[in-house]
Amino acid sequence: MRQPRDILVTSALPYANGPIHIGHLVEYIQTDIWARFQKMRGEQCWYVCADDAHGTPIMLKARQEGITPEALIARVAEEHRADFDGFRIGFDNYHSTHSDENRHYASLIYARNRDAGHIAKRTIEQAYDPVEQMFLPDRFIKGECPKCGAADQYGDNCEACGASYSPAELKNPRSAVSGAVPEQRSSEHYFFRLADFEPMLKAWTRGGGLQGQVANKLDEWFEAGLQEWDISRDAPYFGFEIPDHPGKFFYVWLDAPIGYMASFQNLCDSAKGRAAGLEFDHYWAPESPAEVYHFIGKDIIYFHALFWPAMLHGAGFRSPTAVFAHGFLTVDGQKMSKSRGTFIKARTYLDHLNPEYLRYYFAAKLGAGVDDIDLSLDDFQARVNSDLVGKVVNIASRTAGFISKRFDGRLAAELPDSALFETFVAANAVIAEAFEAREYSRAVREIMNLADRANQYIDEQAPWVVAKQDGREAELQGICTQGLNLFRLLIGWLKPILPGTAEAAEQFLQIAPLSWDQLEQPLLDHEIAKFKPLMTRIEPKQIAAMLEASKEDLSAAP
Ligand code: 2FM
Ligand code: ZN
Repeated sequence: MRQPRDILVTSALPYANGPIHIGHLVEYIQTDIWARFQKMRGEQCWYVCADDAHGTPIMLKARQEGITPEALIARVAEEHRADFDGFRIGFDNYHSTHSDENRHYASLIYARNRDAGHIAKRTIEQAYDPVEQMFLPDRFIKGECPKCGAADQYGDNCEACGASYSPAELKNPRSAVSGAVPEQRSSEHYFFRLADFEPMLKAWTRGGGLQGQVANKLDEWFEAGLQEWDISRDAPYFGFEIPDHPGKFFYVWLDAPIGYMASFQNLCDSAKGRAAGLEFDHYWAPESPAEVYHFIGKDIIYFHALFWPAMLHGAGFRSPTAVFAHGFLTVDGQKMSKSRGTFIKARTYLDHLNPEYLRYYFAAKLGAGVDDIDLSLDDFQARVNSDLVGKVVNIASRTAGFISKRFDGRLAAELPDSALFETFVAANAVIAEAFEAREYSRAVREIMNLADRANQYIDEQAPWVVAKQDGREAELQGICTQGLNLFRLLIGWLKPILPGTAEAAEQFLQIAPLSWDQLEQPLLDHEIAKFKPLMTRIEPKQIAAMLEASKEDLSAAP
């Protein structure tokens, strides 16, 4: 038997200061489909994630709410977990960057890089809020745009005219925290010497682990020159204190990707990990035979394709096998907007619609590139209703009733058209290839073509006519058995995308959880349960209500 691949998959860690929204879900759904696909193929695949719990925004949000950062991140972690469960994101482990494991690996990776000479120390000048007695990140400085004069613009770019600038150029700058006029103060910072890793990064970039567009972007960055990266922040800061430098903390972006390792270590130490004999070093040692994949948004490529492999390398760990970047989500062709009600939180969506609809729609739109994807609400409704309800589920609803009523739920002992079944089975390989290559839209197209073919078979055989004619019992049972076997294949292929529907279909067919290689064998002479509708149509009023509730969320916001 073939040895399964050892695969570790991650999605970017969401910040622990706000809710999951449908923009985030593009990535979690994309990753989850891939991880589920690998598991269905029999690979040893582990999908881990965590909350990204550190940084100034989280510290300030907790302060604003009058609670500790620990209390804030605990609450948000519960909300995130519930949202991910609602969308059936099947993490093997969900942890936090504010954890012992993460402190351990952040300190270790820092110390090893420091001892190898990759950390520099320098004094820099920065904006300082004299009232709050803290240094201010760019986004916490507001003022008038130096180009157009618009008031209340953030430290680095103007929402009115689109200009970008440095916070020092803002006219009449104010601290967004206290309103005080910021001062310039100096402090000592620690820098990661990224340029030390240029040869290694260039080799890694060309090693096939990046999408073409991403590798090109990296070439531009190499040309511009790799700059030292400031990895420290002054107190007050919510994060890990740098072990040998009291009062200095690791910048949130240093320990965020290390959170992937921390979550994996936490999984190794859990009952589940121990039962599987999971070992940290097998996945992270320099010569590891395991595969490590990070799914991320295109905005955080620099962190994942430059800083992260360099930090790992400097600390004697392996580099990721690949980093897969995706584009952003637009809704009806525009950026998500709170006033239009298209800034839709995961929870608001779940209050109105079945998660499987969105999983399907995103899959139908996702390719392997970094292009943005659009959720067109009319198209969403039309596509889900016509493909899932009208084509796939319909095959079962057109055939199952006859099997229950006329044959005590028993499928025939052979297929009347095994050639047609084999045509379907022959598609296994191309569909698997499309999933593996993250070309989900191609997989969905193949599957829906076959769903059309299955419906055509039923139209031609017209079981409802055969049912009314005497002496055609065996024929009727055969047609419906054929239909349900084609349905089973479609559901098997859709299972990574529609785990909930697939589970309901497995119960209806009274079969063990479907795996990829079982799909080749037909289900015959077998008793199935009574059919219950597996999915209902999207009604326009559900979408309208969701948009309305998203507008309400806005007015209710503090
Ligand atoms: O951009 C973000 O939302 C970050 N919280 C992602 C972190 S990904 C990883 F590096 F931890
Ligand atoms: Zn401006």
